[in-house]
Amino acid sequence: MRIILLGAPGAGKGTQAQQIYQKAKLPLIVMGDIFREAIARKTEVGVKVEQYVKQGKLVPDDLVIEVIMARLKQDDCRNGFLLDGFPRTTEQADALDKAMKKDKATIDHVLYYAVPDEIVVERICGRRTCKKCNAIYHLKYSPPAVENVCDKCRGELFHRADDTPEVIEERLRAYHSATSPLLQYYRKQNILKEIDADRPVDKILEDTVRILKLA
Ligand code: AP5
Repeated sequence: MRIILLGAPGAGKGTQAQQIYQKAKLPLIVMGDIFREAIARKTEVGVKVEQYVKQGKLVPDDLVIEVIMARLKQDDCRNGFLLDGFPRTTEQADALDKAMKKDKATIDHVLYYAVPDEIVVERICGRRTCKKCNAIYHLKYSPPAVENVCDKCRGELFHRADDTPEVIEERLRAYHSATSPLLQYYRKQNILKEIDADRPVDKILEDTVRILKLA
């Protein structure tokens, strides 16, 4: 299966992606994690993308496409993948379509997690992420058993540098102007499934599992 997760910042894409990964065992490719890791390791890509990510602006398409295409060429992606955070522009979606055509492959599902803007600020400001395994928590909705310690791997939890109200505003602006046209893009291809993501995580997961036939 080849799956794309779409939705505003804080819609819960990462939270659902980790559950799908557990059930479907597909390679999980999280664009934001790739960039954050590159920034932390100060790689060539990391240096190039740091200012964009810090300010909540989209990284230029040519760089994003170069990074993701290299990842999709790896052996583990031959029979499927789960994409969180890519594509985010029509140009990125066109590049993915072109690569799929070349490989005689197709995208099977695009899951769109729909949430109103008002709730994403609270979700994102309360988010804590594990430094070691990237598990996602929320101080109010899904807190860890021990403060600042990951339940799964005992790693330390951190608050993302771009999870501030000012940067979230910019990320939402980028989402509405550049990413939301993809809803129509994939609707036209008849592969978009909309899920109401303004509900508890387990209810959203029920829909996700049903659509992907993972049960
Ligand atoms: P990225 O890391 O992809 O950030 P994002 O899209 O803004 O998405 P988030 O990770 O903030 O949200 P999410 O939907 O995964 O929500 P989560 O499950 O964590 O990108 C970061 C940056 O990288 C971009 O700004 C850009 O600069 C760059 N970039 C990345 N990809 C790019 C691309 N393709 N092109 C150009 N630039 C790119 O949930 C959020 C919180 O809510 C958590 O605390 C969670 O516990 C909680 N939560 C989740 N679901 C629920 C629920 N149902 N009820 C209550 N709480 C919930």
